[in-house]
Amino acid sequence: MNGARILLGVCGGIAAYKAAALTSRLVQRGHVLDVILTDEAQRFIAPLTFAALTRRTVYTSLWENGAAIPHIVLARENALVAIVPATAHTIARIALGLADDLLANVALATRAPLLLAPAMNTAMLEHPATRTHLATLRERGATIVEPESGFLAEREYGAGRLADEETLVRDIERILGRMRELAGERVLITAGPTREVIDPVRFLSNASTGTTGIEIAREALARGAAVDLVLGPTQVPPPVGAELVRVTTAAEMYAAALARAPVATIAVATAAVADWRPAQAFDEKVKKSAEPQTIALKRNPDILAALGERKNGTFLVGFAAETSDVEASARLKLTHKHLDAIAVNDVSGGAGFGTGDNALALLFGTDGRIDLGRSSKRELAARFWDALAVVRGTGG
Ligand SMILES: Cc1cc2nc3c(=O)[nH]c(=O)nc-3n(C[C@H](O)[C@H](O)[C@H](O)COP(=O)(O)O)c2cc1C
Repeated sequence: MNGARILLGVCGGIAAYKAAALTSRLVQRGHVLDVILTDEAQRFIAPLTFAALTRRTVYTSLWENGAAIPHIVLARENALVAIVPATAHTIARIALGLADDLLANVALATRAPLLLAPAMNTAMLEHPATRTHLATLRERGATIVEPESGFLAEREYGAGRLADEETLVRDIERILGRMRELAGERVLITAGPTREVIDPVRFLSNASTGTTGIEIAREALARGAAVDLVLGPTQVPPPVGAELVRVTTAAEMYAAALARAPVATIAVATAAVADWRPAQAFDEKVKKSAEPQTIALKRNPDILAALGERKNGTFLVGFAAETSDVEASARLKLTHKHLDAIAVNDVSGGAGFGTGDNALALLFGTDGRIDLGRSSKRELAARFWDALAVVRGTGG
């Protein structure tokens, strides 16, 4: 692969010496490395080693360079921040957002993907504090390269040895490769519920939080795409970097999505659009004292079908939440609405809604199917784009 700018953070652990070999390997593979050593890392290995290997300045302090603000420049200029080895202390600092040295500041200030390779004594690794901090970082999208079991510095066998060099290089380059995968693509994503007005304070809606679409948008951005996100009412924050269009009703979502569709190379319709709206919306709040109302409903426009009818080279992916005959109904939608793929989840029993886990499968062609398994919506978003690369024939 082509060389990338990588920021390597080295912490104070026995495995710090292995970071030098990794640096050499990454430089030989054409990458340009900026190295930051924590104060404690310098007790184990000298900055000079990394300066010689990278032929670049090695950074050790937040305070050493007056002209440029080092943590902001380093955070912006690098495509990936890799912390190898990551100590229990630094893992905790980053999970908690404590910015008390250059490396922790960069980890907080960067929008680049973060990779951490923990290495430590088994008891430290298994301590609930460390496990919780690693889970927090993973949940935020960081890649944790799991340590191996092996002979540790304390002359005993156990989990906690730094992952081997091959694994680290592979994981680093996998992230860098992914980041370019959607470069040049313009992705249109609809997400969230819609609200169909009954009166000024009442509406019909559904349990969607938009999390799946928001995570798919975040991942598309991370892989280099430009993203138009048409988002219904939700409290879940959208990702930074997307062109955001906030809408409320299905009619607004229809207009916003169709306006942006002609420039989209990929469109992913995850929104839980209300199929019907009240035939009549009251201008005034309907009084409690009024007779119970019967709400007559009118059909909303079908956004996905409209996108399918008008698509002109756009790769169109629908989402189907079904409670029965899941695969059969999804396959009907796939053909009737001219979709290129459809992601299905079985929402019987309420699964799939909210911010928790979900399970998805991607259907395409006459009988193509890729199971994405059950996982957090963030992880599923990564698997979704991996699978789509296979379906579109651009990867895998
Ligand atoms: C000999 C020695 C070896 C150490 N090895 C590790 C280690 O492998 N992993 C770890 O998390 N901490 C290790 N520590 C503890 C860290 O050096 C200590 O927590 C330090 O504050 C980490 O600072 P940093 O995270 O800013 O680099 C070791 C300490 C000593 C004295």
